[in-house]
Amino acid sequence: MQVTLIGGGMIAHDQILPTLFHMQRLGRIGELQVCDRRPESLERLAAAPNLVRAFPGQSFVPRTEPFADVIGALPAEQLVVVAVPDAAHYDVVMTALRHQQHVLCVKPLVLTVAQSLDIEKEAGARGLMVGIEYHKRFDDRSLMARRRYQSGLFGEFKLGTACLLEKWYYRYSNFQNWFTCDASDAFTYIGCHYVDLVAFITGLTPAAISVYGIRDKFPNGNEGWLWTDARVIWNNGACLNVQNALGFPDAGPGSNTQSLTMYCSNGQVGAWLNHSDDYRGLQYCYTENPGGDGATTYSEPSPDYFQYQDLGGPGLTPVGYGYRSVAYIAERALELQGLAKDARTALLNQWDAAGVMATPVNSRYNEAVVEGARKSIQQDGALIRL
Ligand SMILES: NC(=O)c1ccc[n+]([C@@H]2O[C@H](COP(=O)([O-])OP(=O)(O)OC[C@H]3O[C@@H](n4cnc5c(N)ncnc54)[C@H](O)[C@@H]3O)[C@@H](O)[C@H]2O)c1
Repeated sequence: MQVTLIGGGMIAHDQILPTLFHMQRLGRIGELQVCDRRPESLERLAAAPNLVRAFPGQSFVPRTEPFADVIGALPAEQLVVVAVPDAAHYDVVMTALRHQQHVLCVKPLVLTVAQSLDIEKEAGARGLMVGIEYHKRFDDRSLMARRRYQSGLFGEFKLGTACLLEKWYYRYSNFQNWFTCDASDAFTYIGCHYVDLVAFITGLTPAAISVYGIRDKFPNGNEGWLWTDARVIWNNGACLNVQNALGFPDAGPGSNTQSLTMYCSNGQVGAWLNHSDDYRGLQYCYTENPGGDGATTYSEPSPDYFQYQDLGGPGLTPVGYGYRSVAYIAERALELQGLAKDARTALLNQWDAAGVMATPVNSRYNEAVVEGARKSIQQDGALIRL
């Protein structure tokens, strides 16, 4: 199977391309192309020290033509991986589907329910896969919680609180050009992870949303909703509070702060789940600051998201739930290879129902929540029914 990655930016470098390179090394996938309209993105990716060290002798075919031309030249039923900015997902995903390609798309699939319905319809008519990459689902702790919740051990979710605050230095990046009040907010950008995770664990769906935002200025003077407090009401009446910001101190350990607490009950006794998702038990104090955005001399690194390990070579082996998540979706596309449409549709229906891989059908609540959140934040946190 050929794999074509559209968008060669940060997430391509940090998670997607190393996963695909490793799958190629294992013989699971064939030729790898990366398409980006900016040649400098591709040059940076080709020369990235981590990738060069981890995958000696491996390379991708760089493509700077319009993505539609690159996709249009593919044989049917290969895999197109979409890693362009959120607002461009819809065009790239629909182009891939119309050219009879399977799709892996980074979160969020799209920003409206209507677009997600279009994608479901196009993919369904053609027997094609659209897998959405929410990697927190592949963190073992999420899968543990899901099995235990679904076996009844926690009873029913009642109240919860989650947070994900990125470091302050994000304000100095390209975010200041696009993360403006009219286009996004801290909840829309990062809050979706915990909304999706609570739905994944409990099987509940969001029924209403309210987002209170605080406007703050970027270094270039642009204004963004850089601090948000969201309240998600679920279809059983439960309530999840989610706080997000680009505001965790750069001097703080780890790359951000994030956690999830859920209070549950079976009507007789209470139950409780508490995940620290930034502090995972490791404390390092280096002789000096190793350098890089947000790096600190005292550090609490996560071994769980994405690491390169030396397992004797060649190169380094990517491990972690970031790897597992992308590999899981690519493996599903491999499973569909060579099957007739009816057989593909049967498998796709089975995966929609299993709900492990996010698909347009089984995770549409994410688009509904984002649409509602954008309305609510403009109205001082009004409650929007979904
Ligand atoms: N936790 C997560 O799941 C996670 C984390 C980071 C980013 N993301 C998602 O990944 C996507 C990309 O984010 P990023 O941080 O890598 O952004 P980025 O800006 O670093 O990279 C995007 C790349 O896409 C390229 N691009 C834009 N339009 C294009 C087009 N029409 N054709 C070809 N290339 C085009 C840009 O040149 C750039 O190199 C976003 O949807 C984001 O929400 C998800």
